[in-house]
Amino acid sequence: MDPDFWHQRWRRGEIGWHLPHPNPHLERYWHRLPVTPGDRVFVPLCGKTHDLMWLHRQGHPVVGVELSPLAVSQFFMEQRLRPEEQARPPFRCFRAADIELLCGDFFELTRQRLGRVQAVWDRAALIAMPPELRPRYARHLLQVVPPGTPVLLATMEYPQVEMAGPPFSVAETEVHELFGDAYRLERLHAEDILSQQPRFQERGLTHLVEKVYRLLPKGEAQTVASPRD
Ligand SMILES: C[S@@+](CC[C@H](N)C(=O)[O-])C[C@H]1O[C@@H](n2cnc3c(N)ncnc32)[C@H](O)[C@@H]1O
Repeated sequence: MDPDFWHQRWRRGEIGWHLPHPNPHLERYWHRLPVTPGDRVFVPLCGKTHDLMWLHRQGHPVVGVELSPLAVSQFFMEQRLRPEEQARPPFRCFRAADIELLCGDFFELTRQRLGRVQAVWDRAALIAMPPELRPRYARHLLQVVPPGTPVLLATMEYPQVEMAGPPFSVAETEVHELFGDAYRLERLHAEDILSQQPRFQERGLTHLVEKVYRLLPKGEAQTVASPRD
């Protein structure tokens, strides 16, 4: 999407994707990734999500990338944090404790600028991208994180003809096309949530399935299991 589209959404406060609490899928499935407290987590296209604080409470330093300065300032204000700011062109870098937000364009991010990360949480980032940008998004994500970095990915599926994105519908086959060379994919969750989503019912959807995947280096998926699920 055009950056102006997102800037306008933030200026108008049209941020229907924003949850007033941490994402339940993150809370439920995060422990299914091979990560330990202290591992630094990357949250691409982070908005002002409470997930950043939740991850931080699990003992993770976190780094997010977000286009909108409004989102970044609202995040720190709402969390009552006073960040230090550093200009690191083309990004402005805001840091409080172990939470770092890079304000700028994800596609301008380099591995060096991101720093070392050991896991990724992608919610409403891949599905914020129109179809033609998704291969570039996936390639870029894989370029900036070390090879094999585990990813927890949440997507949505619905008949794309019924609604214009974002959020866009991203089919499981596409997730495999985008990430299947680099990762072994495992679907952890699939649920039709339309009945709990009046705003999507009003937009005419007939179904809306949320899916959660874990992406692990090939050969590793079998070894990370948990008795909790
Ligand atoms: C649908 S929202 C999801 C935000 C967050 N992941 C959440 O779950 O609340 C997508 C966010 O990505 C930001 N964004 C869109 N394109 C971007 C880009 N190229 N680089 C960085 N951020 C971007 C938007 O400003 C918006 O806040």
